[in-house]
Amino acid sequence: MENSEDIIIKEKEYLLQTYKRIPIKISYGKGVYLITEDGKKYLDFFSGLAVNALGYGNQKVISAIEEQIKKYIHLSNYYVNSPQVEIAEKLVKYSGLSKVFFSNSGTEAIETSLKLIRKYGGPEKKIITFSNAFHGRSYGSLSLSGKEKYKKYFAPLLSNILNIEFNNVEELEKNIDSETAAVYLEFIQGEGGVRVASEQFISQIKSFKKKYDFILVADEVQSGIGRTGKPFAYSHFDIKPDLVILAKAIGGGLPLGAMITNKKYSTVFDFGDHGSTFGGNPVACAAGLAVINQVFDSGLVNEVAKLGDYFSTQIKMIRDEYPNKITDVRGLGFMLGVELTNPCSSIVDEFCKKGVLVNCTNENVLRILPPLISTQDNVDYFIDQFRSILSKTIS
Ligand SMILES: Cc1ncc(COP(=O)(O)O)c(C=O)c1O
Repeated sequence: MENSEDIIIKEKEYLLQTYKRIPIKISYGKGVYLITEDGKKYLDFFSGLAVNALGYGNQKVISAIEEQIKKYIHLSNYYVNSPQVEIAEKLVKYSGLSKVFFSNSGTEAIETSLKLIRKYGGPEKKIITFSNAFHGRSYGSLSLSGKEKYKKYFAPLLSNILNIEFNNVEELEKNIDSETAAVYLEFIQGEGGVRVASEQFISQIKSFKKKYDFILVADEVQSGIGRTGKPFAYSHFDIKPDLVILAKAIGGGLPLGAMITNKKYSTVFDFGDHGSTFGGNPVACAAGLAVINQVFDSGLVNEVAKLGDYFSTQIKMIRDEYPNKITDVRGLGFMLGVELTNPCSSIVDEFCKKGVLVNCTNENVLRILPPLISTQDNVDYFIDQFRSILSKTIS
């Protein structure tokens, strides 16, 4: 067996260097923990970037996968596969929308929605997106991005996409009109720094939607499936999107993405307009179904709401103790962001030394994405470590 050092060196030799890897060698995961080959245990408040909603080694997910692989691992989308239909039924039930198309990732689900919007609205109408938005890395999804850093080397991107300031009501007024085909929105921006849409912003979008009848797309890739303490981030607001984009947690750790549409847009695609060899893979759908059963049907989402409130209250207490180090605390449920005065990479390193994994996004925002099964003890442990780290850092 390779030792950890060899693997870390070989990774640099054999893989394109597009990921700045954290230099620890994970051996396995159990519950909310990741364990390294030398036996060190890490509390994982990173959750595979919001994928591992039920942590590691969840028995129901494992059993669902085992049962399905014995039947068939893959089936062409020319045939009906039961787990795909069953998970679609649940997604329709919990979203209140009408029909689902499955892909392998969030990016591909976004691409699906873009094709639907162009087919319905035509090539000329504009699509509105927001500053700091993140919708994926393919050409279509990158064209929707509100982050120049990701786009700068890749022009030309798709045309007729307008990026305006997030949460700015005047900007909406200036730019949304009858020529607007669609608006893409993360009700809570993840990659963009855990920024929650304001009530006023959403109510303005709602009234423009009534007037101009554009397609409202909720990108719930990161925020969906109970992460915010409600089924979807949009469930916190008095508005209903036309299209909902999902991925990450819905595959139980296997690649799965989905676009859910309301009835109005459910007939835009005809046979052959869109497709995918692997999209809606039966094993991924079976795993995802086990996740949805536990998060929604068994009420885990309500625990996330309660514990998420407790977590953010505790972080706000730390902010009050260190107002010169923390500038803002944001988020809902188990999707929390702590904006620091300084870049957060050194804080992330300190957490790592203390056996806690957490992410830094947008340079200075600590992004906290615990598995939805985390307990108050796990939260308290994180809080204790955070307090201890801040007490030692200079600024
Ligand atoms: C809000 C949002 N949309 C889309 C994507 C892209 O999803 P994927 O990486 O599964 O292609 C991500 C990924 O982080 C995301 O956070």
